[in-house]
Amino acid sequence: MSNNTISPKDYENFCKFLEEHSGIILGDNKQYLVNSRLAPLVDKNDVNDITGLIQLVLDPMQKKLRAEVVDVMTTNETLWFRDNYPYEVFKEIFIPEFKGLNRPIKVWSSACSSGQEPYSIAMVVLEYKKANPSQLSQGVSILATDLSPTMLETSREGKYDSLALARGLSDERKNQFFDDVGQGCFQVKDEVKKMVEFRSQNLQESYSLLGNFDIIFCRNVLIYFSPEAKAEILKKFAAALNDKGYLFLGASESMSGLSDDFEMVRSSHGIYYQKK
Ligand SMILES: C[S@@+](CC[C@H](N)C(=O)[O-])C[C@H]1O[C@@H](n2cnc3c(N)ncnc32)[C@H](O)[C@@H]1O
Repeated sequence: MSNNTISPKDYENFCKFLEEHSGIILGDNKQYLVNSRLAPLVDKNDVNDITGLIQLVLDPMQKKLRAEVVDVMTTNETLWFRDNYPYEVFKEIFIPEFKGLNRPIKVWSSACSSGQEPYSIAMVVLEYKKANPSQLSQGVSILATDLSPTMLETSREGKYDSLALARGLSDERKNQFFDDVGQGCFQVKDEVKKMVEFRSQNLQESYSLLGNFDIIFCRNVLIYFSPEAKAEILKKFAAALNDKGYLFLGASESMSGLSDDFEMVRSSHGIYYQKK
């Protein structure tokens, strides 16, 4: 039987490794989480136990294993139309405001997990176009990024089981935007899929190759980072946004004390931020 006890020193080193490579802060007493998430990698890597795996991970030469470990340590909880209000704000306030642009509205879903967030944005755009056929002639371009290769693969495939689909998606949207592909699975239709480009991006790294955006969604990921890392990311978001561009954080997240680049806007739907 494998030994699941992580020594304090190994835990400390592992936490440092994870923060450096993903920004994710584990905090105290999360050894149980490390154990449960790394357990499947123990056998695969021909080591005796979690301690052996952590020793291997701490070796900078183990690039592939390091990426796999970061991938399994990410928390990917998500759902369709999460919290609803960002999608209401997007439809009711942002699209009308940007509709005179002579180029597509540029949206970035910056921690897209398994695709629910960017595909929800795409569905709102399609619904808006259907209701307002003469508007949005330049369209909306949606870039979706994540650190996790597993999540990007799921997103690109766009196939979900009925359990995942039940989380936040109405029957009407399910019927309109998904094909039943059997065995309890549903595939997002091509008209939705082709609106989203998925790419790998670590929020800790430079965004200079991504271009500029009118709207950034960065929801439910900064909660895992240190205040310093959050401040750095907010600075890079401000640089990546066009003038007066918008940012959504998660419903429980705030940028208080972390950035002077944004103004908080309280709408009847909910809070969002505008670049000053
Ligand atoms: C809890 S999910 C949030 C998904 C979606 N934004 C939502 O609100 O439902 C957090 C996502 O952030 C990603 N993530 C964690 N650290 C990251 C980093 N440094 N760079 C980019 N993505 C990261 C994870 O892989 C995960 O998919």
